[in-house]
Amino acid sequence: MKHLIIINGPNLNLLGKREIDIYGSRPFEDYLEELRERFKGQCELSYFQSNSEGILLDKLHEVGFSIDGIILNGGAYTHSSVAIGDAIAAITSPVVEVHISNVYARETFRHHSYFSAHCAGCIIGCGLDGYRLAIEYLKG
Ligand code: DQA
Repeated sequence: MKHLIIINGPNLNLLGKREIDIYGSRPFEDYLEELRERFKGQCELSYFQSNSEGILLDKLHEVGFSIDGIILNGGAYTHSSVAIGDAIAAITSPVVEVHISNVYARETFRHHSYFSAHCAGCIIGCGLDGYRLAIEYLKG
């Protein structure tokens, strides 16, 4: 059975109470329970969230040479972090970049990602369902 991890970056711990017109009113922990139930017996699903760039880098280094797949929503670091982009390039586990909102329909600074070129794929603007779609892909 494949082992996957969802890694959420800055401010995504506030899902459910943050800009609900953009990100919805559901806390991520609640959605995670649904995902774990849905994929029970199909894949093991770990979860990690941090607001700190260095801690996210350490997590990618820790899991990125052994885990079967990473679902990464790097939040705003997507648009600023060369270091996380380099980490994705360095590790061997496939990474799927997820964004809840359609970043291309938002401010222009959100149109560039330092991650995408190093990812196996990107799922953008499909709401929380983007995480499920990424799992479907990575679990094979
Ligand atoms: C986001 C989009 C980013 O631009 C933003 O900084 C986020 C969330 C998304 O999931 O839509 O924090 O990654």
